[in-house]
Amino acid sequence: MSTDPQSLRQTIPPGSLVAILGGGQLGRMTAISARTMGYRVRVMDPEPHCPASFVADEVIVGRWDDVDAARRLAAGADAVTLEIEQIGVDALCEVAGLAPLRPGVEPIRIIQDKTLQKTWLAENGFPVGPFHVVSSEAELHQAVRALGGSVFLKIGRGGYDGRGQARIGLDGPTRSQSVAEAWKAIGAQPAVAEQALDLAFEISVMAARNPSGEVRTYPAARNHHESQILAWSQLPAGISSEIETRAGALAADLIAKLGIEGLLCAELFVTRAGELFVNELAPRPHNSYHQSERGSVTSQFEQLIRAVCNFPLGDTSLVAPAAIANLLGDLWLNGEPNFAAALAVPGVRLHLYEKHSPRAGRKMGHLSAVGSSAEEALERVLDAKRRL
Ligand SMILES: Nc1ncnc2c1ncn2[C@@H]1O[C@H](COP(=O)(O)OP(=O)(O)O)[C@@H](O)[C@H]1O
Ligand SMILES: [Mg+2]
Repeated sequence: MSTDPQSLRQTIPPGSLVAILGGGQLGRMTAISARTMGYRVRVMDPEPHCPASFVADEVIVGRWDDVDAARRLAAGADAVTLEIEQIGVDALCEVAGLAPLRPGVEPIRIIQDKTLQKTWLAENGFPVGPFHVVSSEAELHQAVRALGGSVFLKIGRGGYDGRGQARIGLDGPTRSQSVAEAWKAIGAQPAVAEQALDLAFEISVMAARNPSGEVRTYPAARNHHESQILAWSQLPAGISSEIETRAGALAADLIAKLGIEGLLCAELFVTRAGELFVNELAPRPHNSYHQSERGSVTSQFEQLIRAVCNFPLGDTSLVAPAAIANLLGDLWLNGEPNFAAALAVPGVRLHLYEKHSPRAGRKMGHLSAVGSSAEEALERVLDAKRRL
């Protein structure tokens, strides 16, 4: 990791053009923060009416590996960032040749493939649970035996919200599969086989770093998943100060070691035995920090713009305990949800992403709330969600 002496001095002033690879909800909320600070915004997305299109100046329509679209996105932009890590490396290199790409190509290349990411974490001494990289059914058989029989199998590229995953030797809400079925289910492709850990709970830590090398971390958020999709998250996490300190140090080390200019969210597992493991990394804003818009002095989206434009990073301390609950498309299956009932709950705000086709499992929006404690904020969003 080196710090470019030029970038130490240069900020990218308001009025400049910030471009974002990806125009989903994270791109939308980043664009809103950029606009608040006076930037112009261009996004690239396969979908012309993507969530960010309603707040951006311009949408470049293109797939994640479309080098020509990436060139048009970056041409004339003062900085380029991203909201999704599944961008083709050729497209990333094209962008990086035309404008500062923050974060850079190399951290995205490592993170976008779970096999490379897990290997990088282990090789660099970061704590990860037992895992094997597998590229055939025979290797998977071997790995499952070595890992003790209960395994999460995750495709290297393109998985999210539990998609591209299979579970072997486990009981629970998701049906457990045999090795052969699991290998077939993930499309017989390079994957990570992970030992199923005995989780006490899941947390995440957001870190930010600007080109001048300044690093800041947020307090940890506590996350609850249902069917491998984030259901709710609260800030602060309500964990021991010992775990909080370890988790914060881990996130700060990770962002510096990866040389990221922008954001890095580390999803962490805390096991019943008290171990702390890195589950996975995201070099961008993250669903588990949406409550930073309500509870933190500086939201994750403002922090990304500050980092990308090389401004001093914002204060990450809490103003109020806060929580979010995700709204999946399932809520729309029987008609429009009862928003009035939800908004009658004190402290609750509605966030919708203007996605026009609700599908089961699709993130359509979220509810956020502040409260006098994280428990109260969480109870408020869960109550509001039940009323929908
Ligand atoms: N090794 C594991 N042990 C126990 N639970 C796991 C393991 N891996 C994943 N999970 C559960 O599945 C969720 C989704 O897995 P993750 O690797 O974060 O994939 P995604 O890319 O879909 O977010 C995790 O947040 C956790 O609840
Ligand atoms: Mg995850």
